[in-house]
Amino acid sequence: MNRPPAPASTTAPATVEDALLSRRSVRAFLPAPVPRSTVERLLALAARSASNSNCQPWQVHVVTGEAKRSLTAALLHAHAGEDEGRGRDYTYQPPQDGWREPFRSRRRRFGESLYRDVLGISAEDTTARLVHHRRNYDFFGAPVGIVLTTSRHPQQSALVDAGLFLQALMLAARGDGLDSCPQASLIDFSPVLRRHLLIPDDQLIVCGLALGYADPEHPLNQLRMPRESVASFATFHGDDAE
Ligand SMILES: Cc1cc2nc3c(=O)[nH]c(=O)nc-3n(C[C@H](O)[C@H](O)[C@H](O)COP(=O)(O)O)c2cc1C
Repeated sequence: MNRPPAPASTTAPATVEDALLSRRSVRAFLPAPVPRSTVERLLALAARSASNSNCQPWQVHVVTGEAKRSLTAALLHAHAGEDEGRGRDYTYQPPQDGWREPFRSRRRRFGESLYRDVLGISAEDTTARLVHHRRNYDFFGAPVGIVLTTSRHPQQSALVDAGLFLQALMLAARGDGLDSCPQASLIDFSPVLRRHLLIPDDQLIVCGLALGYADPEHPLNQLRMPRESVASFATFHGDDAE
């Protein structure tokens, strides 16, 4: 099996449980390249995901090297308001003030953890927050950027299937000691992605993904987001599970 020359500090998890527990969103990467054969193998693993009637509606665009640099330049240009590249294919989330509890509080906690606790940026310092946000468009320095799209027809099940594919890809990456960060921020500029990657109109642009070797020393990668307890989201019916 083709294994990349992993940086010395990288450890690959041995079990599915380890992969689940060690996956987290990584926002600073080492420049070490990821061979195309590795990316292809991870994509083949992710494609083992379940999908509605085995439709497998996902598609991916993988950008590296010069293609990635030129996409980043176009995204940053659009982000600076210098072209007409803004626009989303679907309503990914409510507007800033449209969130309900408990998600409002969880989002606030995430924002505070990332910006205040890890980056030392205050809520008022919009310039510094913007500087960090713009790193999304360089895929946080990862050598591989992935843009995930799915069929528009049927849209709902294709979005669920694409989500399964995304999670499988992130877990498969852990198996090779690689890390990732899913990136909805990219889809704020769907026209740029569509133009650059020649994505046809019948494909909905779902999400981006940064993929590479985590920089273990970087403060951004010290962030660990907590989870609610099982009791807070699971309801057991029947007594067999006691
Ligand atoms: C669909 C999706 C889109 C996301 N988009 C972004 C993004 O644009 N930028 C970012 O830094 N993190 C993004 N995240 C990462 C979340 O903030 C992260 O998953 C969450 O805070 C939980 O932390 P963890 O992944 O480290 O466990 C996204 C996550 C998902 C699932």
